[in-house]
Amino acid sequence: MNERTFRVWRGDAGGGDFAEFDVEVNEGEVVLDVVHRIQAEQAPDLAVRWNCKAGKCGSCSAEVNGMPRLMCMTRMNLFEEGEAVTITPLRTFPVVRDLVTDVSFNYEKARRMPAFAPPADLEPGEYRMQQVDVERSQEFRKCIECFLCQNTCHVVRDHEENKPPFSGPRLFIRAAELDMHPLDARDDRREQAQDDQGLGYCNITKCCTEVCPEHIKITDNAIIPMKERVAGDRYDPLVWLGRKIFRK
Ligand code: SF4
Ligand code: F3S
Ligand code: FES
Repeated sequence: MNERTFRVWRGDAGGGDFAEFDVEVNEGEVVLDVVHRIQAEQAPDLAVRWNCKAGKCGSCSAEVNGMPRLMCMTRMNLFEEGEAVTITPLRTFPVVRDLVTDVSFNYEKARRMPAFAPPADLEPGEYRMQQVDVERSQEFRKCIECFLCQNTCHVVRDHEENKPPFSGPRLFIRAAELDMHPLDARDDRREQAQDDQGLGYCNITKCCTEVCPEHIKITDNAIIPMKERVAGDRYDPLVWLGRKIFRK
């Protein structure tokens, strides 16, 4: 057991400041354990969102010493002895209170995305696909919707004006998953990503990939292939001609 200093941002949409807590830390604990101890012993009204404490619900996202992280998966032994631990709410989304932000931006963007559209002549139970296709999309389905990638992407992080046209990396992996899905009957996923989701705003900085707790290769396996296909569709005259001829 030792004692550490935690600096926790407290406030609401109108503003706030850091509150400092000296708090007990035990071997094997994670940042969320310590935040819960602060709540239990010193600040019962401290607002924090969490649920599973197992890195699976995506609720406890925050910025710990400036790095976007899941608090329940951030071990205290990551920090130097005596180093203060500073926690702030996700920066890209509006603060509700203390460490809780309003992430409805992400749900609004998800709602705009056309759903999976299986072929009309197949009944549920008749869907068949190759294992290789299952595995390709499995990576993207590991997403826990923590929105750390959305919070980190510089396109929207300090640019509120880019939020309307830009859906962000979490939605790009969803678009890529559906575009690669052999049973998705829509043929406009790439156009939709480019025109409605703002894929063109992404300049492949890969910051989203760096913070993903599920280690999804967002940029290499979803964004870059989608960009290549958009470029192929739009600028390769043969692809363009083929689509003109064969499109219903
Ligand atoms: Fe979180 Fe990764 Fe999903 Fe982004 S892609 S929301 S970082 S799990
Ligand atoms: Fe943003 Fe990721 Fe592209 S951080 S700029 S969506 S590579
Ligand atoms: Fe569920 Fe941290 S509490 S991911």
